[in-house]
Amino acid sequence: MDQFRLQVNGKHHQVRAPRDTPLLWVLREQLGLTGPKYGCGIGACGACTSIVDGQAARPCVTPLAEAGEHDITTVEGLSEHGDHPVQRAWIELDVAQCGYCQPGQIMSTVALLAANPDPDDDDIDRALRDNVCRCGTYSRIRAAVRLAAQ
Ligand code: FES
Repeated sequence: MDQFRLQVNGKHHQVRAPRDTPLLWVLREQLGLTGPKYGCGIGACGACTSIVDGQAARPCVTPLAEAGEHDITTVEGLSEHGDHPVQRAWIELDVAQCGYCQPGQIMSTVALLAANPDPDDDDIDRALRDNVCRCGTYSRIRAAVRLAAQ
């Protein structure tokens, strides 16, 4: 077991785990942050998407040893009461169906809007193309991104 210091949602944490442990497991099991979901475990589905140093990232394929120097935000860190503008847009347009992928969709959107506050449909599709929704809520997701950008 190795010991690591993480900065997650503005707080410092000391965690112990093998250095190649996926960051996702540490977030979920040691820090109790279950917003990032396990979908594929190979960086392909986007369910675990969180923000690392301002960029959308996949903690299922981020070894713990590489996470220590970075500023990590999970969906829990966006707001205390679910009232971040992107979360509000999701609620207003009733985006979620089963909901499993939505934290990842929201985090990819937050990263997109931080880099591009006025994205067009192509920008949205490009930014979210690797966030898979098995329920097919893509048109509502796109509308919510546009609403959040207003
Ligand atoms: Fe991380 Fe699928 S669980 S991308």
